[in-house]
Amino acid sequence: MAYTVLARRYRSAAFDQVVGQEPIARTLQNAIASGRVAHAYLFTGTRGVGKTSMARIFARALNAPDTIPNCPKPPGEHDYPERDVQDRMATAIMRGDDLNVIEIDGASNNSVENARQLIANAGLAPTGNARFKIYIIDEVHMLSTAAFNALLKTMEEPPAHVKFILCTTESHKVPATIQSRCQRFDFRNIPTKDIASHLRNVLTQEKVKGDDEVVWQLARLGNGSMRDALSLLDRLISAGEQPLTAQTLVQMLGLPPQQRISDLIDAMADGDVKAALEATAGLLDQGIAQDQLMEVLVERLRQLMLIRACGPDSELVEIADDARAAAGAQAARFDVQGLVYMISVCENLLRTAKASSNPRALLDATVVRLALAEKLADIAGLLAGNPAPASASGPASGGGPGASSRPAPSAPVYGEKKK
Ligand SMILES: Nc1ncnc2c1ncn2[C@@H]1O[C@H](COP(=O)(O)OP(=O)(O)OP(=O)(O)O)[C@@H](O)[C@H]1O
Ligand SMILES: [Mg+2]
Repeated sequence: MAYTVLARRYRSAAFDQVVGQEPIARTLQNAIASGRVAHAYLFTGTRGVGKTSMARIFARALNAPDTIPNCPKPPGEHDYPERDVQDRMATAIMRGDDLNVIEIDGASNNSVENARQLIANAGLAPTGNARFKIYIIDEVHMLSTAAFNALLKTMEEPPAHVKFILCTTESHKVPATIQSRCQRFDFRNIPTKDIASHLRNVLTQEKVKGDDEVVWQLARLGNGSMRDALSLLDRLISAGEQPLTAQTLVQMLGLPPQQRISDLIDAMADGDVKAALEATAGLLDQGIAQDQLMEVLVERLRQLMLIRACGPDSELVEIADDARAAAGAQAARFDVQGLVYMISVCENLLRTAKASSNPRALLDATVVRLALAEKLADIAGLLAGNPAPASASGPASGGGPGASSRPAPSAPVYGEKKK
């Protein structure tokens, strides 16, 4: 049998299975229960966060409510098809090929003729005793202006049996005239910890073993998108090595190994320019792209900053539990201002390196700057007539940038030492 990707096999089939979108699920269920279902909805949000899944579940709740446990129904008496018919409807809806739940790809059906066809079809009653005819228009922002205009009237006052669910990743491209005829729901990016726990469930059901670190890393790489995280997991599983490890993932994606990044940050905390440059060269020698190295470094520095600012147990700190202690120890070598400064220096490099004829030189200079920041601050202090402090202050131990406060990120002037 043909292999179905994880993202499709694990598509949410009920409101409470759409991870991270609970407020939207609740509002939609309340709308059904109170008999206040609008005639048009706009679902927006980044790719792979559950828009199409939620649209199908909503359609299923409207036409085949008995197939969803605890599914709300509108007040009053309503005729629904027999249970076996509802079951068939539900299966077809979740597959995306039900006769009354019509999924339209806005990108390839974007002409005014397509819109007119839709309008003509919407006038016909639903088949098989279904209550509603529901149009799910994906990528709706791809419709032409003429198509949008043709739809305006029907979207404002559709026949009683018609509902529209428009889905888009780019709501700003949907004309205001259409938006104002819809109830809008903004799907949020899914928090890393929620993606991680969903991935763990999938791994359990797939009977695949994987360590905590790999699950967190996949979740982080998903960047808020469940589909992206599941697709990466698919690739990793098909790489064949089990149990899954962060190391295999790093090799597969050509990412810098976490340990080496950690060594680089330690060298910076020590103010050890030689070790920092060697760690950087080692990473590049492994074939890591300069941009990627910087992006991963920035993300690590961000985690350290969050630990320093909010404590190691904060929910904002998105790392595996068993990596928390080590990250906490590393974070203690820096102060928040120092980390803010380091992130801004890295960001600056990401911007300027693209236009440079010698990006490697800029990278090396940045690494030196980060490792030497403390000493440069001393020199600036001396030049400004301040005596150099006897030793580093605060929890930091080394001579690196964390040992004392950093200059403000936007100003390349080295600031005062932390008291
Ligand atoms: N919130 C979520 N909870 C659980 N799984 C999800 C969620 N969002 C996405 N997925 C997974 O990703 C797959 C794709 O989701 P879906 O089609 O609903 O995303 P989408 O928001 O419509 O994306 P696109 O904008 O690319 O169309 C689903 O089959 C499911 O496996
Ligand atoms: Mg979709």
